[in-house]
Amino acid sequence: MQFALVCGASGDIGGAIANDLANQGWSLYLQYNQNTERINEMLVKLANNFPKQEFIPVKCDFTKQKSVKNLVAQIFSLDAIIFAQGTSKYKLFSEFNENEIESMWLEHVRTPIMLVQSLVSKFSSKTGRIVFVGSVYGAVGSAMEVPYSMLKGAQSAFVNAYAKEVASLNITVNCVAPGAVNTKMNKDFTVEEQVNVENEIPMGRFAKPAEISSVVLNLLDARSSYITGQTIYVDGGWLK
Ligand SMILES: NC(=O)c1ccc[n+]([C@@H]2O[C@H](COP(=O)([O-])OP(=O)(O)OC[C@H]3O[C@@H](n4cnc5c(N)ncnc54)[C@H](OP(=O)(O)O)[C@@H]3O)[C@@H](O)[C@H]2O)c1
Repeated sequence: MQFALVCGASGDIGGAIANDLANQGWSLYLQYNQNTERINEMLVKLANNFPKQEFIPVKCDFTKQKSVKNLVAQIFSLDAIIFAQGTSKYKLFSEFNENEIESMWLEHVRTPIMLVQSLVSKFSSKTGRIVFVGSVYGAVGSAMEVPYSMLKGAQSAFVNAYAKEVASLNITVNCVAPGAVNTKMNKDFTVEEQVNVENEIPMGRFAKPAEISSVVLNLLDARSSYITGQTIYVDGGWLK
């Protein structure tokens, strides 16, 4: 049985990834932070639809070290890790305080890379897959989301380097970098703001979470064993 840890499984992109992986026979560790209700609903559906697979919820706040230690302790066997957790804040860089930047750093970079360090020894088979859900902003940057853009760039930079270090172990390390996706992360957009962004996107719309998930799933396919160290942009032709 193949096990994946899906971080941010209670989110819209992570939830789509979890559902699609379950559909392909994977057993899952489902990391969430606060949204217990959403995870419980998912667990009921997954257990009904895929009774022979295992689905294990893991509550973890990436900004709390003790919580991260508990997550590591709960994981035994693993074939893939997907990082689809994290938040952003929309304001001028001059308005960010140190704590806000620290939290985002822990969510997007520090905790994920320390998890990789702790969990890579738990990869059970002769192959392993690590996928970050990054952002096109990691490449091109965005005004009003400066720390977020920097941290998304750091995810891609980690992928570039770590992929080289573990390639001989048949572990692939990649980043799937969306543009704008229809998720709760963008729930505060006014209709006008959403239309303005849509007008900039050649596809004329935000991505659906399933359109990001399909690329992640492709990277987890056994036949994708030669794709590593890549950032794959999924942005409807918008910025990259
Ligand atoms: N939506 C977009 O336009 C877009 C574009 C490019 C990249 N992305 C990236 O895609 C990933 C998923 O975003 P999404 O759009 O699916 O957002 P979402 O629906 O808001 O999901 C965010 C997820 O992150 C988890 N999370 C938040 N704070 C956390 C913390 N301190 N510790 C651990 N987990 C935490 C949430 O858990 P709870 O809900 O349980 O608290 C939730 O599972 C993020 O990395 C985001 O940067 C999104």
